[in-house]
Amino acid sequence: KKGSYDHFMQKEIHEQPHSLTTTMRGRLKDSGVLLGGLKEHIKTIRRSRRVVFIGCGTSYNAALAARPFMEELTGIPVTMEVASDLLDRQGPIYREDTAVFVSQSGETADTLLALDYALENGALCVGITNTVGSTLSRRTHCGVHINAGCEIGVASTKAYTSQIVAMAMLALAVGSDQISTQARREAIISGLSSLPSNASEVLKLDADMKELASSLIDSESLLVFGRGYNYATALEGALKVKEVALMHSEGMLAGEMKHGPLALVDENLPIIVIATRDACFSKQQSVIQQLLSRKGRLIVMCSEGDASAVCPSGSCRVIEVPDVADCLQPVINIIPLQLLAYHLTVLRGFDVDQPRNLAKSLIQH
Ligand code: UD1
Ligand code: F6R
Repeated sequence: KKGSYDHFMQKEIHEQPHSLTTTMRGRLKDSGVLLGGLKEHIKTIRRSRRVVFIGCGTSYNAALAARPFMEELTGIPVTMEVASDLLDRQGPIYREDTAVFVSQSGETADTLLALDYALENGALCVGITNTVGSTLSRRTHCGVHINAGCEIGVASTKAYTSQIVAMAMLALAVGSDQISTQARREAIISGLSSLPSNASEVLKLDADMKELASSLIDSESLLVFGRGYNYATALEGALKVKEVALMHSEGMLAGEMKHGPLALVDENLPIIVIATRDACFSKQQSVIQQLLSRKGRLIVMCSEGDASAVCPSGSCRVIEVPDVADCLQPVINIIPLQLLAYHLTVLRGFDVDQPRNLAKSLIQH
C-alpha cells in the first residue's frame, strides 16, 4: 500500500498534488464554486452573526489558516475555538452562529462533544471532514467532504492542505454575493486551480529539506515565526516537528516576538521565519533584521527569487517556494515543513507512522 515509499507519512506528503485535485474535483467553476452539500444552507450562513471554527490539533490549525480569507471574503467575524477549551469554558454559542467543525477522522471525541454543545445551543453546524459516514458527517446539518483519500499516517499532512482548500471554497461560496470582491474571488479561484502544480513544484525541495534536517538533528528546539496568512503555517510546522521528530518546537506569531520570545534568541537556537510575499512582507523583513542583529540562526522561507530581499547579508539559510495567491500560500508553505519533519524523524531514528504516545483518532470510550 505504501508503494515505493518507506512510510505512509512520506507517501501522503507526496500525494498532495493529487489529493488537492480530488478535493476540488467537480467543485471549481470559472464563475464560482459549487459545493453540493451547502447549496441549501449558504443563505443561512451569510446571515449568521459570526462564524466559529472548532477543531483540535492539525484540524484547528487548518481552520486558523482559513480564518483570514473567510473574514475577507464574507465580512463575517470569525472566532477560533480549540474544541476542549470551548467545552472547558462552556463558551457562548448562539442560534445566530455558524459553527464549522473541522476533523479529518470525523470521530475526535472533543470535537464531537463540542458539536453536541453547539447543536444544543441552536447554532447552524457545518462539518469539514475527510470521512464519509463519520459521526461528524452524520450529526452536522450540512458540510463538505474534503475527499483527500484515506490518511493512514498518524501525523496529518494531506488532510491539512485539503481542509484549507475546502474552507477556501466555503469562503468563496458564502462570499459570492459580494460584488466588491468579485475580482479577488476570481484570482483565488485561478490560484486554486494551479495549486496542484505548485504543490508538485514545492515537493522538489525534498532533498534540500533532508539536508536541512541533517543540520538540525541534534538541536534541542526549533522555533517557527509566522504572521497573517502564515501564522497557521508556523503552528502546524512546529506541531509536525514535535509530534513525529520528538523535538521541542514552537510556532509563534512574529508580531509577538518582542513581547518575550526574543529573549530566547542566540547563535544556537534554529529559527524558521516564514516571509513569503503578502501584505506582511516588510514587517517580516524587519523581524529578520532584528533576529540577525541578535545573531539568530535563521532559516527563511521566502518566495522564489526573494533570497537577497529577505537576507541581504547572505547569512541565512533560505527555502524558496513558488508564489501563489497570498491567502493560499499556507497550502504550499506547509509542504517543506512536512518534509523537514519527516526527514528529521527518520534521521533521529523515530517511528514516523506511529509517533510515541499518539493514536490516529481520539475516539470516545
Ligand atoms: C456528492 C457525493 C459525491 C458525488 C457528488 C455528485 C457523497 C458522500 N458525495 O458530493 O459522491 O460525486 O455529490 O454531485 O455521496 N455533509 C454533512 N456534514 C459533513 C460533510 C458532509 O452534513 O461534515 C453532507 C453534505 O451537506 C451533503 C452530503 O453530506 O449533503 C455530501 O457531502 P459532499 O460529499 O461534500 O457533497 P458533494 O460534493 O455534493
Ligand atoms: C496532528 C494530528 C492531530 C489531529 C487531531 C484532530 O498531525 O494528526 O493533531 O489533527 O487529533 O484529529 P481529527 O482531524 O481527526 O479530528
